[in-house]
Amino acid sequence: MQSIAPVLEANSKPSIWTPGSWRHKTAAQQPRYRDEDLLEASLCQLRRLPPLVVPEEVEDLRRHIAEAGSGKRFMLQGGDCAEQFSDCTPDAISDKLRILLQMSVVITHGGRRSVFQVGRIAGQYAKPRSKDTEMMDGVAIPSYRGDLINSAEATEAARRPDPRRMVEAYFHASSTLNHLRALVVGGFADLHHPERWDLPGSTRDIEAYRRILKQVRESIDFIDAIAGTKSTYLRTGEFFTSHEALLLPYEEALTSKDRDGAVHYNLGAHMLWVGDRTRALEGAHIEYLRGIRNPIGVKLGPGVSSEEVRELLAVLDPGKEAGRLVLIPRLGADHVRDSLPKLIQAVQTSGHPVLWSCDPMHGNGLVTARGLKTRDFDQILSELRHSMEIHRALGSNLGAVHFELTGQEVTECLGGSQRLSELDLHRAYETGCDPRLNQTQSLEMAFLIAEMMGDRTTQ
Ligand code: PEP
Ligand code: CO
Repeated sequence: MQSIAPVLEANSKPSIWTPGSWRHKTAAQQPRYRDEDLLEASLCQLRRLPPLVVPEEVEDLRRHIAEAGSGKRFMLQGGDCAEQFSDCTPDAISDKLRILLQMSVVITHGGRRSVFQVGRIAGQYAKPRSKDTEMMDGVAIPSYRGDLINSAEATEAARRPDPRRMVEAYFHASSTLNHLRALVVGGFADLHHPERWDLPGSTRDIEAYRRILKQVRESIDFIDAIAGTKSTYLRTGEFFTSHEALLLPYEEALTSKDRDGAVHYNLGAHMLWVGDRTRALEGAHIEYLRGIRNPIGVKLGPGVSSEEVRELLAVLDPGKEAGRLVLIPRLGADHVRDSLPKLIQAVQTSGHPVLWSCDPMHGNGLVTARGLKTRDFDQILSELRHSMEIHRALGSNLGAVHFELTGQEVTECLGGSQRLSELDLHRAYETGCDPRLNQTQSLEMAFLIAEMMGDRTTQ
């Protein structure tokens, strides 16, 4: 006998998805543009421009993520909290690529897993803010929402959202990605060229890093000798980009159908993630993300419930496909032991094959007495260590990490082997938003990750 279909309430019907169907939902954290014509002209220009990435690369990343989920690979995601247009310089870009590659060598060597890199780069220009305004000399002005939306300059006029910035962001992302691709194709990541990989200084970690590099090079020489050809550590296209899918008109404009017209890709980045503040199940961000083929990261803050996670999984990954979802808890060192086990168990019983990551940055924010946002290296490490232990204890796999970091010697986070204190922070505090690990702290973190992953130490 045919069953009678249940009567669904109007808003619980799975409605038809289009790149613009999010417009029927409530969209958090969106600017209000005053000039509708200018907005439409900017979006029209964006829709005509060539894609930044191609579907084949997105599919490659999906395969890598599926393998990281099952423990064959490891994903290192990192970069600035907020990229700024002024960071689009050869040195800033190559420094970011270099630190991610250096960390990958250390993690691959000690953790015995092939590491692939996903930069928070070439499009990470929009920021969710907890307040719409901030006080400047006693006057409330709109908050800075990232270079994609307004200017960091603290004046009323500069903070007005300008839709032309979306086009500017596209061109900055495109220049950044062009340089990244040229570096990779040109052999920047090739371990046969030690001078490109070296680090200045002689701290304990740098010496250990040099020893690893020497061993890795000897192994490569050995393999080259056997194969009779030169192997390359990183093939073209192995570096992936990601950003938070926050400004939905921009993301919609960069969305297109594949050649067969069967699926849609966002071709502004390989991977997108949804922030903890915009992942409401019925909200516009989840509506947009559910329809694109790209792998999706979902940030999970301490307020998330197991039920919410189950619902998000059902909406974003109805087909239970490996490579589709990366769950990124950012619970904080104080909450991780209470909250993470329940989330892992909820996912295990749901049967969705996710890749688990850990963002040990966003749940561990501190503000100094002088009002600077910072984070403490030990707390970051503590959240990561607990996460890894909890996954192991529950028979789950932590297959990725997510950091805010930079290849430059900034002084934004406390601690690490340089023992940076509050007094040091003012020396090179350069972030456009949240504090990042500097080059030394990032490398040290890589050694600690490798040590946690491997069953032997790396030194
Ligand atoms: C971020 O990744 O910069 C961010 C804002 O994260 P979250 O949404 O987890 O706070
Ligand atoms: Co941040």
